[in-house]
Amino acid sequence: MSQLALLGGTPVRTQPFPKWPISGEREAELVSEVARSGNWWSAQVDANDRPEVASPGPGNRVAEIQIRFARFQGARFGVACSGGTSALETALRACGVGPGDEVILPPYTFISSASAVLTVNAIPIFADVDPVTFNLSPDATEAAITPRTRAILPVHFSGHAADMDRFLAMGKSRGLKIIEDACHGHGAKWKGQGLGSLGDAAAFSFQASKNLTCGDGGMMLTSDEEVNRTALSLVWYGRQKRTPWYQHHILGGNSHLTEFQASILLAQLERLPGQVELRTRHAEVLRRELGRIPGIHPLPVDPRVTVHSYHLFMIRYRAEELGGLPREKFLAALAKEGIPASAGYGHPLYKAPVFLNREFYKGGCPLTCSAYGRAIDYASFEARCPESERACREAIWMTQNVLLGTDRDMEDVVAGFQKVAGHAEALRSYDIPPAR
Ligand SMILES: Cc1ncc(COP(=O)(O)O)c(C=O)c1O
Repeated sequence: MSQLALLGGTPVRTQPFPKWPISGEREAELVSEVARSGNWWSAQVDANDRPEVASPGPGNRVAEIQIRFARFQGARFGVACSGGTSALETALRACGVGPGDEVILPPYTFISSASAVLTVNAIPIFADVDPVTFNLSPDATEAAITPRTRAILPVHFSGHAADMDRFLAMGKSRGLKIIEDACHGHGAKWKGQGLGSLGDAAAFSFQASKNLTCGDGGMMLTSDEEVNRTALSLVWYGRQKRTPWYQHHILGGNSHLTEFQASILLAQLERLPGQVELRTRHAEVLRRELGRIPGIHPLPVDPRVTVHSYHLFMIRYRAEELGGLPREKFLAALAKEGIPASAGYGHPLYKAPVFLNREFYKGGCPLTCSAYGRAIDYASFEARCPESERACREAIWMTQNVLLGTDRDMEDVVAGFQKVAGHAEALRSYDIPPAR
C-alpha cells in the first residue's frame, strides 16, 4: 500500500468534491425577474388561503414556495421564515409552548433546537439519543416526561427520521405537541410520508449548507389551520388577514423572506428530487464499502425510513478496532488524502457555556421565572446522556455535497478510508504537528 499523504506519500485525490450550492441559469433567471420587476417584497399574511398562486411570478414567489415546499413534504401549509431557528421559534409559539413549559429534545443537535425553546421562554430538557441512529431515544423521552412537559422536539438528525411512530403515539396518549426539527430533512420520508407532515408543526432550514438553500432562510410546516394562522401572524408583526394594516393582534416580529430568496428556493427545489436520488445511491455504496473497513461503521437506516435526505453521511468510528488510533488522527490523515470529513460536535448541547452558566435572559429567565422556578443543573445531564457523549466522541460526518460527486469520486472516498485504516499502526506513533 502506498505511503500516507500525511507522511509524505501521494494523496488518493487532489480534485475537490462538488462545491455547494449548485446554481445556474434558472436561479439567475428567476432572481433577475424579481430585480427588474421591483416587487422585491410581498405581504403574505393571507398567502396560505390560496391553494394555488393565481399568477406565479415576482410579488408572489414567497406564496409560491410556501405552497410548493409544503406540498413537496406532504403538509398543508408552509410559513416562510428567516431561518430554521425562527421557524422553530414560530412552530413552538404557534403550538402554544411558552413560559413554564418543558420541551424534551436531544442534546446531539445544533444549538438552535434548544435555543428556540429558551427564546419562547420554555425550558429545554435533554433526553439521550438512540445508539443506532443518534436520534432522540423514545425510551429516554418517556422517562423525561413530567407534568410540566408540553412538547417533544425530535430532530431528524442528518436527514434520517426520528422514530415518529413512538413520538406520535406519545403525543396522543400524553397530550403533548410534537414539533419536528426537520432542518436536515428536505425530501426525507418516514413510512412514505414526508418529514414535516407528521407532527403538529415542523421547522426546515434553508441556510447555506442545507440541501435546499437560499443562503439563509427557513420554513415552518403544519397541517393545522390554527397553527398556520398563528404562525403567519407571528412572522408578519402580529397582523391578521382582512384587518387594518396597522392593527397588530399578537406579539409578532419580522422573520419572513424576500422575493429574491423565494426565487432561489423555487429554482433549487427543481433540482432537489434528482439530488435526493443521487445522494441515496451514493450513500448506499459508501455504507456497503466503508462498512467493510475495521473501525468504520456507517449508521444503518431504519427500515421505516423510506427516504433519507443525507444532509450528512454519518459514521461511528471505533478506535479500539484500529489499535486505539484516535479519531482526530484518522481524520487528519484522511484530509491529507483529499477526503473531507469531520468529527462534528465536540460536546452535547448541555455542556455549551450558555447552558452551564445559564446565560439566558436577564437573571437566568426563563429558568428562574415564577412560571417555572424549578432548579436545573444542566451539568447533571451528562450522567443521563451517555450515548450522546459517546456520539460526540465517535462520530464522523461527511457533508451532503460529497455524495453529489461521480461514481468514481465515491471510489476515491472508499480508497481514502481504506488507505488510512491500513496504516493505522504507523499513524498511532505519529505526532500530528500543532496547527499554526
Ligand atoms: C438541526 C438543526 N436545527 C436548526 C438549525 C437552525 O437553522 P438556521 O441556521 O437556518 O437558523 C440547524 C442549522 O444548522 C440545524 O442543523
